[in-house]
Amino acid sequence: MSAVPTLLKSISSRRTIYALKPELPAGVSIDEIKEITESILKHTPSAFNSQPNKVLILTGAAHKKVWEQVVEAIPTDDGKKRPQSAADEAYGTIVFLTDDSVTKSLQENFPAWAAAFPDFAVTSNGALQISTWTALSQLTGFGAHLQHYNFLKGFLGDKIGENFTVQAQLVFGAKAAEAGEKTFKENSISVIDTL
Ligand SMILES: Cc1cc2nc3c(=O)[nH]c(=O)nc-3n(C[C@H](O)[C@H](O)[C@H](O)COP(=O)(O)O)c2cc1C
Repeated sequence: MSAVPTLLKSISSRRTIYALKPELPAGVSIDEIKEITESILKHTPSAFNSQPNKVLILTGAAHKKVWEQVVEAIPTDDGKKRPQSAADEAYGTIVFLTDDSVTKSLQENFPAWAAAFPDFAVTSNGALQISTWTALSQLTGFGAHLQHYNFLKGFLGDKIGENFTVQAQLVFGAKAAEAGEKTFKENSISVIDTL
């Protein structure tokens, strides 16, 4: 089979799954998740090949403790629901970070582009997030949802240095239900060859 339909199927099959179980899909190990994520981290493009991305994977007591602290930090009952579900119903969390010292060094070395480097770091991290979500959905069959409780960096203790910024969290586990229907806006592409 051509790789093209397989790749497009992977992209369209990646969905937000909130209904998770605190276990891995049958036959999947955390080592596999780590290895796949490391490969994507390695190959994700970045400005000037600066590789500012970093990933941590939280499981077990660390996952639970971090999300319980997020719950505690949120004042409203409604606001607590999503992080509480991450603490109770998910197996783990892939935390995506950027190394700000890489951005700072690029700014010093290439001053003409200085203003663009923070956005470039976030762009590269976004590519990493979506590639990881897509690949792990396809290769492991896990369910996951993307969150932005970026202040949870404060709950990671000495596991990550001061110079890192948390960009997003992919909360994952075995699927308890499939994704709902998704609507799409009309968004055709114009191919322009003359202006
Ligand atoms: C940049 C970005 C930020 C997102 N932030 C959140 C978020 O903070 N919380 C959340 O529950 N979902 C978040 N999502 C998931 C989107 O809501 C979801 O991807 C979108 O509704 C399309 O659904 P799908 O993922 O099933 O295709 C985010 C997605 C992206 C790409």
